[in-house]
Amino acid sequence: MSKSIVIYFSRADENYGVGMVETGNTELLAKEIVAKTGADEFKIEPVKKYPLSYQDAIAQATEERKASARPEYVSDVDIAGYDLIFFGYPIWWGDLPMAVYNFIEKHDWAGKVVVPFCTHEGSGNSGTYEILKSKMPGATLEGDGFEMLGSIARTDEGIKKIDDLLSGLGVL
Ligand SMILES: Cc1cc2nc3c(=O)[nH]c(=O)nc-3n(C[C@H](O)[C@H](O)[C@H](O)COP(=O)(O)O)c2cc1C
Repeated sequence: MSKSIVIYFSRADENYGVGMVETGNTELLAKEIVAKTGADEFKIEPVKKYPLSYQDAIAQATEERKASARPEYVSDVDIAGYDLIFFGYPIWWGDLPMAVYNFIEKHDWAGKVVVPFCTHEGSGNSGTYEILKSKMPGATLEGDGFEMLGSIARTDEGIKKIDDLLSGLGVL
């Protein structure tokens, strides 16, 4: 039997289009996958937290991106025991958050089935599906680069869409 986990990065607090929130948009989708599939869960938590204000968070993320930084995260997970990995993240500057690069580069993805999912506020998955393909050698990517507006992820429509993804993959 295959063992699955939902690994994700998500920032709560003030964000574009949704105001001040306690749970990030991507995290809501991650929690839905966990609830429906019984998968384990791991959140990539950066050591250096992002400010509560959207503008200040943007400033920090911009600096990290300019520097091609690899922000450290609080704890790690051994992915060796998992066959199926749901991998969620927000689009930041048409790209993956830098801490997500750090996580990807620290793990061996060979033989894994990876289902990426992302949220954004208009730029789609911005080619990050292709980036993941190149940065996860030996993995099989499924789900066609599933993406959703963050504001939709907070609605019943968004939850239905992620359920449809799971049904389409045959895991529901
Ligand atoms: C630093 C930063 C950069 C962002 N860059 C983009 C972007 O390039 N394109 C876009 O559509 N949305 C962008 N957004 C919006 C987020 O992708 C969107 O709000 C997403 O749903 C956030 O997910 P989260 O709540 O799980 O962190 C950005 C948000 C932040 C904080």
